[in-house]
Amino acid sequence: MFKNLMNQNALEMHIVSGFEMKQKAKKYEDQGNKVIHLELGEPDFNTPANITKAGIEAMNKGESHYAQPLGVPAFKEEIAKYVREYKGVEAQAGNVVVTPGAKPILFYTFLTFIKPGDEVIIPDPGFPIYKVLAKYMGATPVSLKATEENKFRLTLKDLEPLVTSKTKLIILSSPNNPTGSIIEQKEIEAIAEFLRDKDIIVLSDEIYDRLYFGEDKILSIASIPHMQDKTILLDGFSKAYAMTGWRLGYGIMHESIAKVFNPLIVASNSCTNTFIQYAGIEAYRGPQDEVEKMKAEFKVRRDLLVNGLNSIPHVSCVLPDGAFYAFPNFKWFGKSSDEMAAYILENAYISSLPGSTFGEDLEGYVRFSYATSRDNLNEALNRLESVLKKVKS
Ligand SMILES: Cc1ncc(COP(=O)(O)O)c(C=O)c1O
Repeated sequence: MFKNLMNQNALEMHIVSGFEMKQKAKKYEDQGNKVIHLELGEPDFNTPANITKAGIEAMNKGESHYAQPLGVPAFKEEIAKYVREYKGVEAQAGNVVVTPGAKPILFYTFLTFIKPGDEVIIPDPGFPIYKVLAKYMGATPVSLKATEENKFRLTLKDLEPLVTSKTKLIILSSPNNPTGSIIEQKEIEAIAEFLRDKDIIVLSDEIYDRLYFGEDKILSIASIPHMQDKTILLDGFSKAYAMTGWRLGYGIMHESIAKVFNPLIVASNSCTNTFIQYAGIEAYRGPQDEVEKMKAEFKVRRDLLVNGLNSIPHVSCVLPDGAFYAFPNFKWFGKSSDEMAAYILENAYISSLPGSTFGEDLEGYVRFSYATSRDNLNEALNRLESVLKKVKS
């Protein structure tokens, strides 16, 4: 109905999301089966209590009115301080744009910079929203392909041949969803050098940078002085602070870009929920041990899951550098990734996301989120091993 009136780009928007897969799994749960949920990209931990308390206190104090569209000033100061100290990016409060979750930063970036015919370079495998937004704007998404041979770590060599006079925006995401792979420091530096004289905006998606299991930190491209003005840094509280449902994220950008985002925010959601921003202040100002505990647990689960997957005949899985996803290769079994995800849901009651959701040529891959208990992961591995034995027998 009304199809002739609708924007064609909107009609073609389709995202195979964790939400959709969760719905599919419900059928098996309704039949009395215990489904193991490895589809959703959200921590299974509760938000640390000090953060929740700060949110409740702010609400009780009456912080329940409209906030300034770009964010509560004290929160923007706190974010700028965090970004300076943790990421080495010379941000001030005027560079901060607070949003309900980090996703709107993507939306506003596309609305501000992209027009039909532009090319947007996106990581592949990568977060599906990048591609959907490029298409929605009538732009061409160009796949920046990471290879399993290189542990899915992107390099300048992968990027260089893709840049044309039509390239408007390059998205970098490290650690990446769905592979968990990082872009190494030397590659970030090389990419920054390559982009030095180019009029191209970089969106640096750093939502998982606190969940990096390596020794050093992930290098933010925005911390390289000549890149700061042309980088929009995306980050937020959903993943590292287990705050997905609060919806709290932000972007760091040149003030002139923040000025353009302002009316877009006024026209869409007015502002981010006011009392939640006070919870955000506590998240950055308060103790960080809960974040570190969650990260340590994710690392144990990563090792458990990835070692378990690699011990199943004909399955291989790169060890992810961070985040809470594994991206195993099931190609040997000869199924498309949709078929594989459906097979393991129907037979092992494991809910996952098909790899093809995340890019081109990803048939045979599946994304598992290990944001679930060790017991569930052990059980999933046992079930998987037994149902995979039956595929080619
Ligand atoms: C790579 C990546 N970027 C951004 C986001 C958005 O996070 P939020 O829930 O804060 O909007 C996600 C969430 O899944 C993600 O995986």
